[in-house]
Amino acid sequence: MNSIHTISTTPYLDQRPGTSGLRKKVKHFQQLHYLENFIQSLFDCLEGIAGKTLILGGDGRYYNQEAIQIILKIAAANKIGRVLVGHHGLFSTPAVSCVIRHRKAFGGIILSASHNPGGINGDFGVKYNTSHGGPAPESVTEAIYARSKKIDRYFILKADDIPLDTLGTHHLNETVVEVINPITDWAALMESLFDFSKIKALFDTGAFHMYFDAMNAITGPYAKEILEHRLGAGPNTVLNGDPLPDFGGGHPDPNLVYGKSLVTKMYRANAPSLGAASDGDGDRNMILGKRFFVTPSDNLAILAAHAHTIPGYRSGLAGIARSMPTSQAADRVAKALEIECFETPTGWKFFGNLLDAGKATLCGEESFGAGSNHLREKDGLWSVLFWLNILATQRQSVEAIVRKHWAKYGRNFYSRHDYENLPSDQTQQLIEDLRQQLPNLIGKQFNQHQITLADDFSYHDPVDQSITSGQGIRLCFEDGSRIIYRLSGTGTEGATLRVYLERFEPDPNQHGLETQIALSDLIQLANHLAQIKQKTHRIEPTVIT
Ligand code: G1P
Ligand code: ZN
Repeated sequence: MNSIHTISTTPYLDQRPGTSGLRKKVKHFQQLHYLENFIQSLFDCLEGIAGKTLILGGDGRYYNQEAIQIILKIAAANKIGRVLVGHHGLFSTPAVSCVIRHRKAFGGIILSASHNPGGINGDFGVKYNTSHGGPAPESVTEAIYARSKKIDRYFILKADDIPLDTLGTHHLNETVVEVINPITDWAALMESLFDFSKIKALFDTGAFHMYFDAMNAITGPYAKEILEHRLGAGPNTVLNGDPLPDFGGGHPDPNLVYGKSLVTKMYRANAPSLGAASDGDGDRNMILGKRFFVTPSDNLAILAAHAHTIPGYRSGLAGIARSMPTSQAADRVAKALEIECFETPTGWKFFGNLLDAGKATLCGEESFGAGSNHLREKDGLWSVLFWLNILATQRQSVEAIVRKHWAKYGRNFYSRHDYENLPSDQTQQLIEDLRQQLPNLIGKQFNQHQITLADDFSYHDPVDQSITSGQGIRLCFEDGSRIIYRLSGTGTEGATLRVYLERFEPDPNQHGLETQIALSDLIQLANHLAQIKQKTHRIEPTVIT
């Protein structure tokens, strides 16, 4: 038996999980007892965890391996029954969610800072998911935070490291540590949802090609297994397929800015029919056709409109859920399908209750996230397979499918403008100033735009009746346009202001307009009302998606 040590510690006061877990710089996590304090605070809050099963793995970023060894030893000292760790310590976020559900685990720990850069100077993060497979709700994350402010000791086993590079079973005192293949369960789930033989037939025509850019992050091995091996997509389909600790120096965020190398390939004359990418931990997706970009908000609407053609969703959708800043394109599909569309605060955790209660089947966020009730996280490759299934059935281009959708439902022009790394105090003041203006804005007319609703979004969860307020400043106009302002809850440096802009256009003759042009008067108005230039001293956003 290895001995259990009780280590005295002092609390860190900054361990409050944000939109998606605790995220800090790697060096911040490497401070004395920092990770240990957080993990022990977590175990202290999980009543009845002794003897139970946990899933553990990360997106392979710098510090992943070391953190896993520390967590295993703390888990053993806290008498966790069994820990299932991904081979090489790797696990995508959706695969953890899948395995928690499939193996009926108590919960799972995911080591990732999602799309934030990695490497020694990059970011690291810890997320905890509960037994339904989804991110812990705020009641749990707040309890962990409260505990972390008081913690004065943690327990750790003095033992050798567990070899993570071979599959098999090990023991840390009474705790069983099983190194498992992290792809198996998730891949089987995908086969049960999508028509693999139809998709394979599409690739077999020889006329259909695709690229999947794994951005040197977690999805490389998953995409190779599914796309190249099971679906016959061809050996050079997966780009940047090896997970690297620093993601090859890139920013593993699949959007038009950080996914530029894929975008460039998709705009060449010889571009393939489909281009897709996923982020650091595999839960985001970007979908491109030949010279064509599908916005994530449109993506959700289009998946919903085609769901009845996909084996896993043939019986129809119970409802759709989208985060508040996501465009209202999905609402139009929900209306046509006569199902409910729920509007939740930003962050996947708010979808959990709706999925568990059977109120929603598909969920999505404007931030390149889509998923369904197949698990409790967004799932990047799932969205790609959904598209492949649509394309295999429709035998039309991505662009044709999207244009047909707009012609039927109208187009919601949509863009997000991010101002990154701003001074925190000033940026909070900007939001506060807007909040003060809200009562006076209702009914005001700006050019052809009249404001019909101006508030700070508050969500009433229809399942557990909890209320979450302060979720973003919302300006809604008579014609369905919206301007939304909120501060990011995932950044690790300064503050990030996000401005979301949306305008509905029913006329198909206007659908070809360039997005920033279609939104130009709303962009000006958004700047004017919040005085962005004056208050941030920035002349333009850092990232436009
Ligand atoms: C961002 C996105 C949000 C997403 C989260 C985690 O959070 O906006 O939709 O759920 O990352 O991937 P934010 O930085 O805006 O708080
Ligand atoms: Zn992610």
